[in-house]
Amino acid sequence: MVDSRLITPRLILRRWCDRDRIPFAQLNADVSVMEHFPAPLTPAESNALVDRIEQKFATQGFGFFALEHRDTQEFLGCVGLNQPSFEAPFTPAIEIGWRLAQRFWGQGYASEAAREALRFGFEEIERGGLELEEIVSFTAMGNGRSIALMQRLGMTRNLAEDFDHPALPPGHRLQRHVLYRLSRERWLQQKSLR
Ligand SMILES: CC(C)(COP(=O)(O)OP(=O)(O)OC[C@H]1O[C@@H](n2cnc3c(N)ncnc32)[C@H](O)[C@@H]1OP(=O)(O)O)[C@@H](O)C(=O)NCCC(=O)NCCS
Repeated sequence: MVDSRLITPRLILRRWCDRDRIPFAQLNADVSVMEHFPAPLTPAESNALVDRIEQKFATQGFGFFALEHRDTQEFLGCVGLNQPSFEAPFTPAIEIGWRLAQRFWGQGYASEAAREALRFGFEEIERGGLELEEIVSFTAMGNGRSIALMQRLGMTRNLAEDFDHPALPPGHRLQRHVLYRLSRERWLQQKSLR
């Protein structure tokens, strides 16, 4: 289980606190932040999501970390790892995901947190006693900011692996998804270049 915080130059990646719930509900109610999700969340849905994330930390030892700014103590959103619960050709898998309040976009915060989450995934998570061999990420095809972030992280897409999200009905505007992968081998190569 993760007890310790992960620290980057500007951010703390940590377990969730009650004081995160209001700013998280605000970003989940923002139609810009939620453009590539089926709908914004109500405060109750947002709180239920926090509960599910914390439950996953407790049971699987990782999850979407709450992001706190080291200087201002502001809550920015979340970045972290998760095991998708739906079935697709690429599951079971561990995904990396992110969601920040809009005022924190365009400043490299998501990249900074995601690099640390990848390091955590590849260096600190084991499954069945084995190190993780790969981390994936996926999003609706039109989510350019998220796709740009995947590419900045060195993740790669195989066009043949685009997929229809099974939780969305046929014809839904968000149904078509892209899949990006990052192997442990490639991550180690990138690390050695930094
Ligand atoms: C996806 C999301 C996390 C991307 O956030 P982001 O701020 O664009 O991503 P980064 O942290 O990598 O920031 C990159 C931008 O910051 C700029 N930047 C400024 N300072 C920087 C720094 N120190 N380091 C890196 N980039 C920096 C980059 O030039 C880039 O600018 P650009 O967007 O004009 O090209 C954000 O848009 C979001 O939360 N979206 C809503 C939720 C969502 O859709 N999640 C994914 C669903 S699957």
